[in-house]
Amino acid sequence: MKGFSVALTTLLLAHSPILSSALKCGIKGITEPCLADTDPHYDESIGYAFKDQDAFWAALEGLYVIESATEYDALTGEKITSFTPGLFPDDGSLGTYDRSNNKGFVNNTVAGSRFYTREYRIATHNSDQSVPIPMPALILPADAFYTSTFEKDGTARLLGTNAGFQTAFTAKTENNTVAPVSGNTLLGTEKFVANVDGVDITIETYQTVYCFDETCSKSNSYRETYTINPVTGAKDSTGFSKATLRKVEEQEWFETMNQVFTETNLPDTALTPALDSPYFKKPFDPAATNPKAPECFGGVCPSEEDWRTYDPEYGTSPYVEPPGVLTGGFIAIVSVASILIALAIFYVVYKRGVERREARLKEAVMGSIAKQMGMTTNRELSPDELEEMFNSIDADRNGNLSREEIKELVTKAGMVEMSERDYDILIASIDLDGNGTLSFAEFCAFYASIPVQDNFNDA
Ligand SMILES: *[C@@H]1O[C@H](CO)[C@@H](O)[C@H](O)[C@H]1NC(C)=O
Ligand SMILES: *[C@@H]1O[C@H](CO)[C@@H](O)[C@H](O)[C@H]1NC(C)=O
Repeated sequence: MKGFSVALTTLLLAHSPILSSALKCGIKGITEPCLADTDPHYDESIGYAFKDQDAFWAALEGLYVIESATEYDALTGEKITSFTPGLFPDDGSLGTYDRSNNKGFVNNTVAGSRFYTREYRIATHNSDQSVPIPMPALILPADAFYTSTFEKDGTARLLGTNAGFQTAFTAKTENNTVAPVSGNTLLGTEKFVANVDGVDITIETYQTVYCFDETCSKSNSYRETYTINPVTGAKDSTGFSKATLRKVEEQEWFETMNQVFTETNLPDTALTPALDSPYFKKPFDPAATNPKAPECFGGVCPSEEDWRTYDPEYGTSPYVEPPGVLTGGFIAIVSVASILIALAIFYVVYKRGVERREARLKEAVMGSIAKQMGMTTNRELSPDELEEMFNSIDADRNGNLSREEIKELVTKAGMVEMSERDYDILIASIDLDGNGTLSFAEFCAFYASIPVQDNFNDA
C-alpha cells in the first residue's frame, strides 16, 4: 500500500487539471477521423510550398525565351507597330517603337511558398526619328511576386508587381490570385485600383499561361487589361497581349539575350544624356564571363518584411481541427465497460459497508495467509489507468461522480440490489468532503483504501 500511496500523491498533484482536456480527433476506433483526412486545408503534412501543393509549379519554373510577344490595340484589335513612350517629347523627333513580334526573357522561380516571375520585353525602334541619333531599343521590365495561400491548393496570391523600372516596392492590399488549372494552365484575374493623374481607376486583368507539355517546354501566355470608369462603371479594354515562350537552359538564355541586346541596339551606357535612362540601355552584360541578371528586373525587390505580410509561413492558419468527436461504436463500448468497472468497485464497497464484519474477518484471514506464505499481493494501477477508469464512470464528464451516476451504473448492470440506505453508507464512506459527490481525489483515496485482496477476489 505504501507504494501505491506515493503513486497516488504524485497522481493527484500532476493529473487533476487533465480531466477536462479535449479529445483528439483521429484516434483509431475511438474518435471520428480528423478533417485533415479529407480536407487539405487542415492537413499539416502538406506545407505551404507550391511544388508540394500542385505539380504544375515545378513545370512552370525555369528560364524562358519569349520567341514572340505582341501587343494589340484595344479598339481595332490590330498589332501595335507604332508606339511612342511617355518619356519621349511630343514632337515625334525621337520616333516610335514596334510592339509586335518582340523578343523577351523570363525567369520563373518557385521557392517554397514564394513565386516570382521576372520578364524583359524588348521593343525595337522603327528608325523613324528625325534627330541624328541612332535610337536604341526600349527595354520593358515586369516583375510579379506571389506567395502561397492558406488554402494549400496551389493558389498563389499576388504580393505586388513592378511594371517598368520602379524606385519603390509597394505590397498590394487586394486579394488577387492566380491558380493552376487542369495541370497545364495558370489562370488568374486581378483587380486593383491605380491612381492615374489624381483619379482612382480600377484596373482588371485577365491572364493565362498555357503549357503545351508536362515540362512546359513550350507555352503561350495571354493578357487582357480593362479599366473601369469610376463614375459610370463602364469597362474599357486597354489592349491585350500574346506571347509564345520556349524553355531554355541558362547558357542559351544568356546567349540569346546577348544576341537580342546587340541586334536591337541596346548600348552598355547611354548614347546621349537625353537617353540616359534604364529603358534605353542594357540592364547588365549577358556576355560577361559569369553573367548575372538583376535579382528583380524592374529594379526594386520586395523586402523580407514585404514577403511576410502574405507568406502563410509567417501567419496563423485559419484552419484548426475542431476537438475530437467520439465515434458511435466507442460510446457503446465505453458505457458497457464503465458499467462493469463501476459495478466491480461498488460491489466491493457495498459488501464492506453492509457486511463490514464479514469483510474484516475475511481481510484478516487473507492477510494472515498471505503473510504466512510470504506472498505479496500488492497491485498498483498506474495514474493513467486510474484516471481512465474515473473518466469512464463520469458519464457527464464534469469531473465529479454524482450519486445519480453511481446509482444509474449499478442499476443498469443489474447484478446487485442496493437500497437507498446502502447508497447512503457507500457514499458516506467515500465522500471525504461531504459535498455529496465523488471527486477524482476522493475516488483515488477510496481506491487506495480498498484492501488489495478485495481488489483481486471480489472485483
Ligand atoms: C482570397 O481569395 C480567395 C479566392 O477567392 C479566397 O478563397 C480567400 O479566402 C481570400 N482570402 C482573403 C484573406 O480574403
Ligand atoms: C533566376 O532567379 C533565381 C531566383 O532569384 C536566381 O537564383 C537565378 O540565378 C536566376 N537565373 C538567372 C539565369 O538569372
